[in-house]
Amino acid sequence: MKLKTREIIDKRGNRVVIREGKISDSKELQKCVKSYLKSKQIPLTESEFDELAENHEEWIKKFIDGKNDLLIIAEHEGTIVGNVDLMINGRQMLKHTGYIGMGIHEDWQGQGIGTAMFKILIDWVDHNPDIEILWLQAFSNNEKGLRLYSNMGFEETGRQKGFIKTESGEYIDNVIMTRTKLTTNR
Ligand SMILES: CC(C)(COP(=O)(O)OP(=O)(O)OC[C@H]1O[C@@H](n2cnc3c(N)ncnc32)[C@H](O)[C@@H]1OP(=O)(O)O)[C@@H](O)C(=O)NCCC(=O)NCCS
Repeated sequence: MKLKTREIIDKRGNRVVIREGKISDSKELQKCVKSYLKSKQIPLTESEFDELAENHEEWIKKFIDGKNDLLIIAEHEGTIVGNVDLMINGRQMLKHTGYIGMGIHEDWQGQGIGTAMFKILIDWVDHNPDIEILWLQAFSNNEKGLRLYSNMGFEETGRQKGFIKTESGEYIDNVIMTRTKLTTNR
């Protein structure tokens, strides 16, 4: 186990356990992902996710097996309500960089759970000398996400104008955000 299990209280007073993900989470986690895909803030449709679902256990296994990869789960009374994942780039020249993905079940958004999970991830990364740069991508209309990431020390380092085209034909900017450890000599 890479991460100590913790418990937080969300803004509605619910107890939420935050812990490392495991293979047996696959079915529950898929339900959670399908819920937050409805927010249309991730460039993946529900039907595309369904096609990926048969490899979902292998997807989880990669985080368990990777020394510096991490899948964090938020759970309330046996129901998975969110995940944050960090995948380190496997290439030699990029292995000090990690890419973050996340989502909170649509019934649990705005309750501080994303912030709590992200703080736990950042603390873990800050104790890991192998990881120097974290980055992620967000839709420019993702107010909660952009706010959370800038609160956590991420800065906008790139913007692809109109990069995302929604099912209804709307173009949205893709915002690239990066957090670099202060110790890095750049
Ligand atoms: C984006 C997401 C991960 C944020 O997690 P969350 O648990 O909902 O966020 P939090 O409750 O921790 O709130 C984060 C910030 O957004 C603010 N916020 C909450 N609701 C908001 C709203 N409706 N509009 C704008 N900001 C809002 C919070 O106040 C907080 O900022 P603060 O700490 O400065 O007050 C989550 O909403 C989500 O899964 N969305 C759909 C999928 C997605 O966007 N994934 C990320 C792709 S990059």
